[in-house]
Amino acid sequence: MVTVTVRPTGEVIHLDADETVLGGLYNAGFAYTVGCRRGGCGVCKVDLVAGEVTYNRPIAANVLTDEERAGGTCLTCRAVPNGDVTIALRDEELRLINPLLRSINERARARAEAARQDREGAS
Ligand code: FES
Repeated sequence: MVTVTVRPTGEVIHLDADETVLGGLYNAGFAYTVGCRRGGCGVCKVDLVAGEVTYNRPIAANVLTDEERAGGTCLTCRAVPNGDVTIALRDEELRLINPLLRSINERARARAEAARQDREGAS
């Protein structure tokens, strides 16, 4: 199970395998200000507070510079978490736009957590 914890609200979102941070947030019923959703504008940048991400598609150096990557900037529309991550939005808060999707995501997270505990208990 991979989760994204979002500061400052503290929401915890469950992501499917290979899902981007932004895709996971939207699929869980949340939104914040973004632009192209294709790695071209940089509007979706957040701070990666904990964890690591992978970019499975090339990102133009003028959209996300090496200095930004090294400094913990995360381009959420292209970033796929390698494990649990914590991000911090810049100058805004996450907005809940679809409570039903949040409910579905919370149940998926609970099932994944129960499965993880079962695996740990079996070993
Ligand atoms: S929304 Fe444009 S780069 Fe992510």
